[in-house]
Order: sequence, then C-alpha cells, then structure tokens
Amino acid sequence: MAYIVAEPCIKCKYTDCVAVCPVECFYEGVNSLVIHPDECIDCGACEPECPTTAIFEESALPDKWKAFIEVNAVFAGAKAPADADTEGWPEHLVDFIKGDGFEPWPGITQTKDPLPDADAEAQVEVKFKDFNPKGGAE
Ligand code: SF4
Ligand code: F3S
Repeated sequence: MAYIVAEPCIKCKYTDCVAVCPVECFYEGVNSLVIHPDECIDCGACEPECPTTAIFEESALPDKWKAFIEVNAVFAGAKAPADADTEGWPEHLVDFIKGDGFEPWPGITQTKDPLPDADAEAQVEVKFKDFNPKGGAE
C-alpha cells in the first residue's frame, strides 16, 4: 500500500505535500503530482497538508478515483506503460504512455507556487480529462 495523489490535484499543484515527505517520493508533472508507490513509506504526513484533499491512503481512495493508483505508478516510473491497467483513463493519456514520447516524471522536493488558477480549479470536480502527461514544469 502507498499514498495516492488523485484528481483534485490536477491544475492546482499546491505542492504543500512535498515539503513534509521524509523520503522525497513525489514526482512532478506539468499540472499535477504523483507519489512513487514503492518509495512511499505510508507515514501519512502529506495527506493533511493538501488544500484540495487530493491525497489518500490506497485503501481509503474513493472508488471514483481508483484509476489514479495506476496513474501514480506509471508516471512516477514504478510501472512500465506496457504493464499498466489503463481502465478509466482518458484516451489521450493511454495514447501518450504507449507512444514514443513517454518518460517518467522528475522528482520534486521543494514547495513552489501553485498553478495560476489553482483556487478556482480546486472547486472543479471532474478534471481527469485535463491531466497533462508531460513531466516537469512548463
Ligand atoms: Fe511521503 Fe509519507 Fe506521503 Fe508517502 S505518506 S508520500 S512517505 S509524506
Ligand atoms: Fe497536489 Fe495537493 Fe500536493 S494539490 S501538489 S497533492 S498539496
């Protein structure tokens, strides 16, 4: 088991979570973060830090966000795209990880400014379709 970053992080990326992680297991995409499931030590420190309530222990992850277990594993580099169960993923993500351009995301260890529309996007419930599969910051 590990902690998982789910849909509410998308287009917010407040990054309060990374400041408290003792094992530096957060990885950064253009508009969200993921947690490496094999590096996370299940300490729970990050969960209360997230202003959007995006972080859950895997067994407590709401059913509607179960697809994010595989999203975290693939984009953190813990699982090869060929082995991923992409059920429930938007089509552009499936295409992206199966294409030549896929690379696991780089690590992030320091808090930075949230994305410009973070406060408004924190109120948006459905935004998986907006998940940007590219790593790093724009
Ligand atoms: Fe890091 Fe602990 Fe959160 Fe896992 S649960 S990502 S180890 S702060
Ligand atoms: Fe995302 Fe919450 Fe961290 S919005 S970047 S999981 S603090």
